[in-house]
Amino acid sequence: MERVLVTGGAGFIGSNFVHHLVRETDVAVTVLDKLTYASSREAIDALPSDRVTLVVGDITDAATVDPLVAGHDAVVHFAAESHNDNSLHDPSPFVQTNIVGTFTLLEAVRRHDTRFHHVSTDEVYGDLPLVDPSLDDPERFTESTAYNPSSPYSASKAASDHLVRAWVRSFGVQATLSNCSNNYGPWQHVEKFIPRQVTELIDGRQPRLYGSGANVRDWIHADDHSAAVWRILTAGRIGETYLIGADGEHDNLTVVRMLLEAFGRPADDFVHVTDRAGHDLRYAIDSTKLRTELGWSPRYADFAEGLARTVDWYRANEAWWRPAKAVTEAAYAVKGH
Ligand code: NAD
Ligand code: DAU
Repeated sequence: MERVLVTGGAGFIGSNFVHHLVRETDVAVTVLDKLTYASSREAIDALPSDRVTLVVGDITDAATVDPLVAGHDAVVHFAAESHNDNSLHDPSPFVQTNIVGTFTLLEAVRRHDTRFHHVSTDEVYGDLPLVDPSLDDPERFTESTAYNPSSPYSASKAASDHLVRAWVRSFGVQATLSNCSNNYGPWQHVEKFIPRQVTELIDGRQPRLYGSGANVRDWIHADDHSAAVWRILTAGRIGETYLIGADGEHDNLTVVRMLLEAFGRPADDFVHVTDRAGHDLRYAIDSTKLRTELGWSPRYADFAEGLARTVDWYRANEAWWRPAKAVTEAAYAVKGH
């Protein structure tokens, strides 16, 4: 594999993956990214130009996608509209990018017989019931969990997964899929839970919890997600799905309290805001298949440490996130969040 096309490579996780490729491999990388509000050109700007080329374009545009796919050995597909709250406000771009965009890429890889890896989410499985954390073996998502998405975002990702599986089975496309849990780390947009609370705290404001804060997310550092995707691309079995998770389950209230402590603020110094419609209760990943079959394991096993480093990063990179902060909070205010 010499040339890899990374869609959405200017986004939070896609850019992390591009850094991973530059650091850990010899491949030449082309990023195809529309540079939406969620992108960060700065995240990849400093990378060597003989290793990384940025093409600004839309994955729904076959005239852009087809020749690019033809010139690469593999496509790793991160590009998406990724935020649940936005999908509840206006589902249209989610259908376009996540479904039509994936279809457009699949038609190109089918035509050119190109290896394809589809990056997806654990949200396609819907949610799990809240459980007593002291239980020995609570239910978790596995590769055989039935699809049951809740939001327009997760439904659009589920649809894209089904397209990939159908193109494998019906057309012999050489594809793998991965479904990962909630990522955190540098370069994540301030609309998302952890960066939103960290930047609220930097601004001396109070973190904002949807509902009671009992909802559980299974956190993984983006570096660990990137390493898993590369492992699946290079060693995964065609047609297979791999779940990616780092055993990082925490309820939202606990995460807010960890952040409050990091800023030396009282444990109850937060506000409850309007809950998300259809808010999924709990996500939890069983990543046994990825670990046993492909030998992957997370480097950031300690969530508290990874979170502390992420807080430091946001403190040090205010110039990057500041321009998006006010507009993001204004949009949240309209929705009552
Ligand atoms: P992000 O919103 O930070 O970045 C998405 C990128 O895709 C942006 O750079 C954007 O400009 C680009 N993009 C959007 N529409 C495009 C289009 N039509 N054509 C070309 N580029 C387009 O997203 P993220 O959080 O980095 O997520 C990346 C992928 O990982 C998504 O597929 C998402 O479903 C999946 N995922 C995310 C998480 C998470 O916790 N963030 C967890 C599991 C899976
Ligand atoms: O599970 C993987 C998914 O994780 C990805 O597919 C999505 O792209 C990604 O955005 C993320 O989805 P969530 O909806 O879980 O992430 P979000 O950061 O929006 O919210 C995390 C949790 O925090 C969720 O329970 C809602 C809650 N929340 C969120 C915000 C923005 C709050 O309590 N307060 C907030 O201000």
